[in-house]
Parts: sequence; C-alpha cells; structure tokens
Amino acid sequence: MKYVLTVIISATLSVNAFAHEGAEGVIKERMDRFKENKEAMKAIKGNLSGDAAVIAQKASEIEAWANEMVNFFPEGSTQSPSEALPAIWDNFDDFTAKASANAKAAANLKTLAQSGADAGALTNGFKALGKTCKDCHNDYKE
Ligand code: HEC
Repeated sequence: MKYVLTVIISATLSVNAFAHEGAEGVIKERMDRFKENKEAMKAIKGNLSGDAAVIAQKASEIEAWANEMVNFFPEGSTQSPSEALPAIWDNFDDFTAKASANAKAAANLKTLAQSGADAGALTNGFKALGKTCKDCHNDYKE
C-alpha cells in the first residue's frame, strides 16, 4: 500500500509537470494498462475453443487491474490525450462499482477456464466480461 501511494503521488506530480507533453505519469500508466486489457481480451477470444490456461491467465490479469484501476484516477486527471470524463469524479462510487463488476466478471471467467468449462460457457463468460468494460466506457470514457 505504501508503495502504491508513493507511485500515485509521484505519478500525479509528473502529470502536472508534463501535462502538455502527451500522456505522462498516472495517465500514461493507466492508458498502457487498458491497452494490455484489450490485448488480453483478444487473447481470450482467440482461445475460447483453444487453450484454457491462456484464458485463465489473461482473465487473472484483467481481474488484478480491475482491482487497482480506481487508484490510477486522481481527481481531475483528464489532461490530453486522456479520454477520461469528468463524470468519473462526480460519481466515484459508481465508477468504483463498475470496476468491481469488471473484477468479478474476470474472476468468474478465470474460474470457468480453470474448471474445464466448454467453449459455450467460456464464450458466455467472455461476453459478460466484455459487457462490464463497455458499461464503464459508456459513462466514463470519451
Ligand atoms: C470502471 C471503468 C472501466 C472499466 C471497468 C474498463 N475501462 Fe477501459 N477505460 C476506462 C477509462 C476511464 C478510460 C480512459 C482512460 C484515459 O484515457 O485516461 C479507458 C480506456 C480504455 C482503453 C483506451 C486506452 C488508450 O490508450 O487509448 C482501452 C483499449 C480500454 N479502456 C479497454 C478496456 C477493456 C478491454 C476493459 C475490460 C476488460 C476495460 N477497458 C474496462 C474505464 C474503464
């Protein structure tokens, strides 16, 4: 926790210092993590009738990020090229709930993959997870 706070504080400082030089600090970090999310979803999709271990691994990575992502949204961090909407900080409880729903859906898919579920069940789990990404983007991403 101490480490996380240090990272956030120094990241926030660098956002202020480099606001006009493209994505920096905490904004760059979260954008990179979300890009990894997209790649993870691609890998899962490509393995719905393939390697369940890949699904479990990628779902686990998505879950881990979902559990920490709210810490990467210090108030007002909307500097360009961020696509984060100010509504996040007007509804931070809801934003947090949507991150939790994302973590839960990812954990669910991980469990399915680990328990030998068939491609149909994995596909349903994948779609349910994708919906939790969209639910948040609809309200809080440009
Ligand atoms: C609780 C809210 C929330 C959830 C859940 C969420 N996102 Fe996002 N996502 C955001 C926000 C806010 C941004 C904009 C961040 C920024 O630009 O500062 C974003 C940005 C992105 C981006 C663009 C990154 C970039 O560099 O342009 C991708 C891709 C993305 N998310 C994918 C996903 C995927 C895939 C999932 C689900 C596995 C997901 N997100 C779940 C809120 C969320």
